[in-house]
Amino acid sequence: MDTTASKRIDGKGTAVAVRADVAVRVERLVAQGVTPGLAVVLVGEDPASQVYVRNKDRAATGAGIAVQTRKLSAETTQAELLAVVEELNADNSVHGILVQLPLPKGLDEGEVVRRIDPAKDVDGLHPLNVAALVMGDEGLVPCTPAGCIELCDRYGVDLTGKHAVVVGRSMLVGKPIAQLLLGRNATVTVAHSRTTDLAGLCRTADVVVAAVGVLGLVKGDWIKPGAVVLDVGINRGEDGKLYGDVDFPGAEANASLITPVPGGVGPMTIAMLLDNTVTAAARITGLEA
Ligand code: GUN
Repeated sequence: MDTTASKRIDGKGTAVAVRADVAVRVERLVAQGVTPGLAVVLVGEDPASQVYVRNKDRAATGAGIAVQTRKLSAETTQAELLAVVEELNADNSVHGILVQLPLPKGLDEGEVVRRIDPAKDVDGLHPLNVAALVMGDEGLVPCTPAGCIELCDRYGVDLTGKHAVVVGRSMLVGKPIAQLLLGRNATVTVAHSRTTDLAGLCRTADVVVAAVGVLGLVKGDWIKPGAVVLDVGINRGEDGKLYGDVDFPGAEANASLITPVPGGVGPMTIAMLLDNTVTAAARITGLEA
């Protein structure tokens, strides 16, 4: 029996299953007269962002969501971008708004995020959604952390009482995943670039979430036998291939479950974006989905 293969979390296949569930919820809304609408705003020509946005557009369309992608030039001013956000806030056919990050230099991301209607903030980055997550209220949860938890759920990982070490403290991943893990009764440690003895800390973890954007930072011998490893990193190696923040072959030898890169957490991010869009559409319209 090939036991190594069974350790790998199939994010691609799980994302297909989530998207199928989303498509059913979309149909339910369409039957009640509402097609969920998603607006994706891309400013500038960053190649990676262009790929992400194209994939989001394709996946949403495939799930029956009405997508509009707004491509704005890299010279767009803050005022012009805010005007687009306001227009989408006021558009009743749009239930989800995503402004692809990072924005070109000179644009104020924080102000843009704060201007998005929190009910349409499918990235879960508006301060009111951040507060809702911390307080355990109903809100919209950032897609990548939501995808990590969905993977744990679908693979039967019980987080209660587990020690989870989150490496990274970004608003998009580290901080929200820490809150979600707390919500699942894990004991959570958030580590970052100034943490002393990161290796020793990771060795105490039942669950390691790596979200720093440093290729291969987390070594295989930092992983406790039987630990669950969620690798959120997407880094381009010198060979042109994609690698995570975790040394995969070394970590796979010790882990009970591990997400590969690519094909692990990445596909789940888009699936959860679609899920958030349908959730937002249902809440805004007051319909069941
Ligand atoms: N850039 C990289 N990941 C994300 C994400 O989840 N949302 C947005 N808006 N931009 C991103």
